Amino acid sequence: MAKFYITTPIYYVNDKPHIGHTYTTTMADIFARWHRLLGDDVFFLTGTDEHGEKVQKAAEKQGLGPEEFVDAMAAQFMERWKGFGITNDVFMRTTDPQHERTVKDFIKKIYDAGDIYKGEYEGWYCTPDETFVTELQLKDGKCPYCGREVRKVKEESYFFRLGKYQQMLLDLYDRNPDFLSPRFRAMETINRVKEGLNDLSITRKSVKWGIEFEQDKGNVLYVWLDALINYLSALKWPDGTFEDFWPADVHVVGKDIAWFHAVIWPALLMSAGIEPPKKVFSHGWWTIEGRKMGKSLGNAVDPVDITRKYGVDALRYYFVREMPFGEDGDFSEGKLIARINGELVDDLGNLVYRSLTLAERFGGNITGTPELDRGLDIENIKGLMQKLDTFNAIEAIWEQVRRTNRYINEKQAWKLSGEQLGNVIYNLLESIRVISILLSPFMPETSEKIRVQLGVEKQGLNHCGFGEFRGKVSKQGHLFEKFSREKHSENP
Ligand code: MSP
Repeated sequence: MAKFYITTPIYYVNDKPHIGHTYTTTMADIFARWHRLLGDDVFFLTGTDEHGEKVQKAAEKQGLGPEEFVDAMAAQFMERWKGFGITNDVFMRTTDPQHERTVKDFIKKIYDAGDIYKGEYEGWYCTPDETFVTELQLKDGKCPYCGREVRKVKEESYFFRLGKYQQMLLDLYDRNPDFLSPRFRAMETINRVKEGLNDLSITRKSVKWGIEFEQDKGNVLYVWLDALINYLSALKWPDGTFEDFWPADVHVVGKDIAWFHAVIWPALLMSAGIEPPKKVFSHGWWTIEGRKMGKSLGNAVDPVDITRKYGVDALRYYFVREMPFGEDGDFSEGKLIARINGELVDDLGNLVYRSLTLAERFGGNITGTPELDRGLDIENIKGLMQKLDTFNAIEAIWEQVRRTNRYINEKQAWKLSGEQLGNVIYNLLESIRVISILLSPFMPETSEKIRVQLGVEKQGLNHCGFGEFRGKVSKQGHLFEKFSREKHSENP
């Protein structure tokens, strides 16, 4: 059995989950579900990043101790993912004792390898990004990544010999062109690595909320170092299920944090003598109604509000449909409504409703010759999903939805009877059954509703060929309802 280890970034708990976190997690969930459907042994990891200055400050602002604060926030993330049908196998918190153990073992390993030395860090620090910024990188005196205020830091610190790994990293990218995906983003990282790598400050004296640096107590590990190691602690490295699942098949990350995953992480692993992950995929960012997302703009859409109004599956569908995985895109409630009305209601909902109506009225045998399987290339869809190309995969599935709808009209099903009608219904139901399997990673609730109405068993991807239809149909109303755009625009 093939294994598949997929991760999301672990999210800072300074704030509640927003649409960006929901996107990353949902995309990873889609791949995890897809691989389960293939019959793979899947390990899907998400979690929370609970240490560091940013979280410490957020706790102080609420007048809470950090432990109390992170417990409450982590619970919010867990609850949120549960509500969104996220099927993670483990939820890793960086305050988990297992994580601390793994981090300490890992640090010891790279310390013993001679890759850590004592020095002094002098430069800038961006707390919202938890990132060191050099004098040269500053943009108008602000953080070059997020544009926010940076703070001068001058303190004793231990460093990781990142510079030593420059050539090994370039060799890795060379040897494995799929390591950094998508390709158009990879070049940026590769060029930066070619320019040279500074050693990385990995401990802080002025920060208290973190994992202690055992080799010189009184220093706390840099939050990013602590965080990256979660991908190993979830497997209970060096023992546990490490051998079963490592190397990770894909770390799904946003483009803003590709550097940490594509450069720092593999270098740390090389130092510890551990194989690098197979792939780091950096996805694009959502703007909201054409504007950069941010609380200050007051336009941070709350995914809970969205799903309460439109349903979890509609949001998942929109994520996949609106933005090719890897590119940037725009989130707008108007566009979401347009997709619900035009595609979920008119294409899919209608198809299922019409077909089940025909099937229920029909008293004869639902049997015939496969016709609607011709244009459907399952191997092609599998290939697309292997490349993480959800955008073209959903389009290929949707083409089958449209083709099946057209078939009803072409056959003028409403005029048929007897064997001819039985044959048409057979093709419709088999096509819908296969569509419901293919859609299940994308829209699990909808897929389940269709399956129940068809009266068939839960099936994997090896059941996507047309066979004998074995269900007992029972129609249960419409899958989706239409929304009015006017109503929405009054209340954006
Ligand atoms: N804690 C680090 C990750 C450590 S992983 C070892 C972190 N956390 S975060 O809470 O800031 O989460 C960031 C994730 O949300 C990133 O993958 C980021 O790209 C994603 N998004 C944040 N805003 C986003 C959009 N507007 N659009 C899409 N994704 C965005 O970074």
